[in-house]
Amino acid sequence: MCCNDQPPVEEPKVSIDWSRILVSRDEFFKLIAVASAAFIGMVVALPSIGFAFQYFLVPRRQDWIKVGKLETYEVGKTVDVVFTDTTGTPWDGVCAKRSAWLRRVDENNFEAFAVNCTHLGCPVRWEAGASLFLCPCHGGVYYGDGKVAGGPPPRPLHQYPTRIANGHVEIKVGPVLAEG
Ligand code: FES
Repeated sequence: MCCNDQPPVEEPKVSIDWSRILVSRDEFFKLIAVASAAFIGMVVALPSIGFAFQYFLVPRRQDWIKVGKLETYEVGKTVDVVFTDTTGTPWDGVCAKRSAWLRRVDENNFEAFAVNCTHLGCPVRWEAGASLFLCPCHGGVYYGDGKVAGGPPPRPLHQYPTRIANGHVEIKVGPVLAEG
C-alpha cells in the first residue's frame, strides 16, 4: 500500500464451461434444419394469413360508382362499362380498373353483371344475336339473366346492384366472394 489505505480490487474469476455452450456438429445441423423449416413455414403461411385477414376479418367497403349518364343507355341494350373500383386498397393501381355488362331493362331499371366467368375468371362477352354471354376459355354459356346455360361454370355471373341517382346510373361494387 502506497498512496491510500484501500486494498487492491481483485478481478472476479470467471470460468466458462465451453462444453455447455458449444453444440456438437449433429446438434448444429439439427438447429439449422429446424430454423429453416420454421422460416419456410412462415413464408408459406403468411400469404394465407393475409388473405384470411383481408377477406374474413377486415370488412371491405361497398361503394356506389357512377358508370354514365342515364340518357346514354338505350332500353334493351347490353353494353360494356368500365369503372374504377374504389373499394380496394390504395396500391391497387390499374388492377382497380373493372368492367361490367350493363343492360337497360326499361326506363328506370338496369341490370349489371361481372364480366368474369365463374369457372376460372375469363372475361365473358355478350352475344346480342343469341342473347347469351359466352366464355371463350372453356365454352361456358350464360343466359341473359346471368344464369348458367351450359359448360363448366359452377354458378351464375355475379350481379351488381344498380340504381339511378341524380341522372346517373350507378352500380354497387365491393368484394366478390363465391356465391352459392
Ligand atoms: S373460364 Fe369460363 S368456362 Fe372456363
